[in-house]
Order: sequence, then C-alpha cells, then structure tokens
Amino acid sequence: MKKIKDHYYHQAKKEGYVARSAYKLEEIDKKHQLLRKGYFVLDLGCSPGSWLQYASKKVGPKGLVQGVDLQPVKLSLPSQVKVLQADIFDLTAKDLDMDGKPFDVIISDMAPKTSGIRSADAQRSLALNQQVLDLAGDLLRPQGSLLVKAFQGAPLDELRSTFRVSFSKVKLCKPKSSRAESVEIFLLGQGKN
Ligand SMILES: C[S@@+](CC[C@H](N)C(=O)[O-])C[C@H]1O[C@@H](n2cnc3c(N)ncnc32)[C@H](O)[C@@H]1O
Repeated sequence: MKKIKDHYYHQAKKEGYVARSAYKLEEIDKKHQLLRKGYFVLDLGCSPGSWLQYASKKVGPKGLVQGVDLQPVKLSLPSQVKVLQADIFDLTAKDLDMDGKPFDVIISDMAPKTSGIRSADAQRSLALNQQVLDLAGDLLRPQGSLLVKAFQGAPLDELRSTFRVSFSKVKLCKPKSSRAESVEIFLLGQGKN
C-alpha cells in the first residue's frame, strides 16, 4: 500500500529526522516523561535511527543510547549512541556496553515482517514483545520504564496482563502521529517491580 507523505513526513525532513516515527516517541515522551538527561536507554529495533536521534538529544552527552537492530544504522550520530547489529532473540547482557549499570528505560519500535494475515502478524508481534519483556527482566533497573509497539487485537490483552505483573502502571498509547488506519499501538509499563 502506498503511504501518503503527510505532515509528519515533511516535518521529519525539515527537522533532520531519518523517519517520521520520531514524533511517536516524542509525543509519548512529552506525555509520560520517559526520557531524562543522563539516562541510559536501550532502543530495540532502532534502524533507520529516528528514535536514536530523538533519544540521544533527550539524554544528552552524559547519557547513553544503545541501539540494537537486525539492520545497520547508516546515520552519523552523537558519541552517546552505540549500535549493535543483532537479533534480539540472541541478545544477552554481555553483548551490550552497560558497564554493569542497568538501563533506565527500554524502548522498542520493533515490528515483525508482516504476512498480511492479521492474526499471524499479531502473534509474531506478541512473540517479539515477550522476548523484550524477558530482556527487561535482566536489563531494566527497578522502577524503570518499558515502551513497546504492539498490534491491536487479542494478543494485546495477553501482553497487557503480563505487563501488569512486572510494572506498577501500565498504559496504552496511540500517538496522533501513528496513522489512524494502522493497527499499531504502544504499551507503556512504568515502575518496574
Ligand atoms: C519500524 S522499524 C524501527 C524504526 C525506528 N524506531 C526509527 O525510528 O528509525 C522496526 C525495526 O525492527 C527491527 N527488528 C524486527 N525484528 C527484530 C529482531 N528480532 N531483532 C532486532 N531488530 C528487529 C527491523 O529490522 C526494523 O528495522
């Protein structure tokens, strides 16, 4: 399906973002105060890199943004950004440059390769997010926050229940910059147990 070049596409061009997705993170961040100066952030599924661009500005030079993606990131980014090309199903703490310090926030804009069969795609997205939750168990600090992209549909209820076990506050977010016709929705867990 051909995507319309909307207001956010043109704004991203003007402001130097490599993708319009930056505005989804910006909206969620502004509403829920996710990213702060000096924070250590893990960005899963970070390519082409607009979340890296936004998050690195927010954490500043004393923070760190560690990106992970199957695909390379071809941008020039500030020194507080590190990128690892890897599959999150193979990822362990040892692969990351953490210096023994857990992340304050984990963000994931990952989407599985879609098949067009809505229920199968939603299941794949659930499997990705369950892996992210597993990783958060090891890599996210107590009271830390986790933001993941999910698909609307039955598996979302299952994911939400799992989030409620690990986080004191769980919210669904559909930013204005996320296309209304898209099934994507973001799930935010705050206050990790
Ligand atoms: C929508 S894009 C992310 C866009 C990014 N947030 C940005 O602002 O530029 C989703 C990314 O998830 C990555 N991805 C999907 N499955 C993955 C996996 N198992 N491990 C690592 N990355 C994965 C894809 O390669 C793709 O680059």
